[in-house]
Amino acid sequence: MWTSPPGICPVVQITKEFCYFRVLKNQSYELCRDAPDTMDEVIGQESAFYAKAEGYWKQVPPTVDGMLGGYGSISSIDINGSKKFLQKFLGEGPGKTNAGVALDCGAGIGRITKRLLLPLFRTVDLVDVTQEFLDKAKASLGEEGKKVDNYFCCGLQDFQPQAGRYDVIWIQWVIGHLTDEHLVEFLRRCQGGLRPGGLIVIKDNVAYDGVVPDEVDSSVCRDLPLLRRLIKQAGLGIVCEEQQLNFPEEIYQVWTLALR
Ligand SMILES: C[S@@+](CC[C@H](N)C(=O)[O-])C[C@H]1O[C@@H](n2cnc3c(N)ncnc32)[C@H](O)[C@@H]1O
Repeated sequence: MWTSPPGICPVVQITKEFCYFRVLKNQSYELCRDAPDTMDEVIGQESAFYAKAEGYWKQVPPTVDGMLGGYGSISSIDINGSKKFLQKFLGEGPGKTNAGVALDCGAGIGRITKRLLLPLFRTVDLVDVTQEFLDKAKASLGEEGKKVDNYFCCGLQDFQPQAGRYDVIWIQWVIGHLTDEHLVEFLRRCQGGLRPGGLIVIKDNVAYDGVVPDEVDSSVCRDLPLLRRLIKQAGLGIVCEEQQLNFPEEIYQVWTLALR
């Protein structure tokens, strides 16, 4: 049975034996046993998909627990895993990524900016569709917040990173809010936003099979083969992919992928 209790959205509780919902044209649902292969099969109208997500996030408290759907307790495990992953690429010389400018995509209240990106990078920009979260980030980053250049309030489907500005573009727990087409286009624009040696990192929930919709926060969770296909369509290669370990058993698997 697919379950998505309100408030548990980035890391949805799910068991391996579940049904899928297919969205019908009249916006009702039918239950089906086969995993849909693309997200277009599971979302309804694109504009409603985005508007509903925006509305959802507007009523989420601007806290770490809010960002992690009630799983605030896993934040340190997540950040430590990300630090270990990222540090493999940072440094100087051929193939290495500079610790100059980073972009935090779907940054929320700046949980990742604060504990992962600001300690490692000279400058950080944040982009998120929810202004209240960016306001909270600005207010809570403290002295280190002086290293933030820009707080962009914008949906990633519309966001254009400045060409050649970023050493690392970090995209965590937000790709499920983009349609397949918008994700591919966004990744292409991100590639244009990289400096030489730059890296795009996606860290997100991964479905066991197919595409699983979350009706509560208006997102989808894709399986790894689909995510890899979309990355390839964007013209990017996967440099490294790793599963985040030590997360609670009942939540989705979380994978980190480094792209160039
Ligand atoms: C699960 S939270 C993750 C926040 C942050 N990445 C973290 O891990 O702490 C998802 C974030 O994505 C933002 N978001 C949702 N849809 C978005 C979109 N289309 N474009 C940009 N941000 C979006 C929400 O406002 C929210 O801050």
